[in-house]
Amino acid sequence: MRRFIVVGHQAVTTPDFGLDDLAGATGRLDVLLRCVNSAFMLSHGLREDTELHLALLGPPGPPTVLHFVGAELRHLNPDERSTAALVRKALARGKEGRSTPGIHVRYQDFHGLLQEFSETLVLLREDGQDLRRAELGLDPTFLLSDHRDFSREEAAAIQAVGPPVVAVGPRALHADHCIVLVHNELDRRRP
Ligand SMILES: C[S@@+](CC[C@H](N)C(=O)[O-])C[C@H]1O[C@@H](n2cnc3c(N)ncnc32)[C@H](O)[C@@H]1O
Repeated sequence: MRRFIVVGHQAVTTPDFGLDDLAGATGRLDVLLRCVNSAFMLSHGLREDTELHLALLGPPGPPTVLHFVGAELRHLNPDERSTAALVRKALARGKEGRSTPGIHVRYQDFHGLLQEFSETLVLLREDGQDLRRAELGLDPTFLLSDHRDFSREEAAAIQAVGPPVVAVGPRALHADHCIVLVHNELDRRRP
């Protein structure tokens, strides 16, 4: 199993957004939608061995976690717009549980997520140990931020868990690109 947690610091927690301005009025939900694509999309199929938690921390009702389960996912297409429609449906649910196949809504805060995956957590950060030489365990849970760095409080909470810090390369990349590189490394290790 491969897991990714991506924190959307301003990503909206309401379904009241249009599909025509995903990079504008949604608290950069577009960044997270691209992470969904990178986490699950193969050229011909979906990665069934992968799960993704999107932690939405924007207004009006944070925190909301959207949990994507690769083995259960249906109706997921490569484009951001149709994935945004699935996210909108999940946010419209208004209570915890499954919204569409493979997408589950949870009201869990960042600390709860950290605790749940503390045993397998790997922090992705550009100043970390080289991914190519990192010991990752069998079920790693990779933690990334969106377009913003983790807040001071979040960084302290992560430090308290003390995960290994791993870099996919020397340059600061977009979160979705990091996910692709992690998948590629794991594919090479365990095809
Ligand atoms: C766009 S970056 C965040 C902002 C970034 N610190 C900057 O200077 O623009 C999004 C996330 O991708 C991950 N990331 C970016 N580059 C990375 C790298 N070279 N190795 C590992 N993780 C990386 C980190 O988790 C980071 O929080």
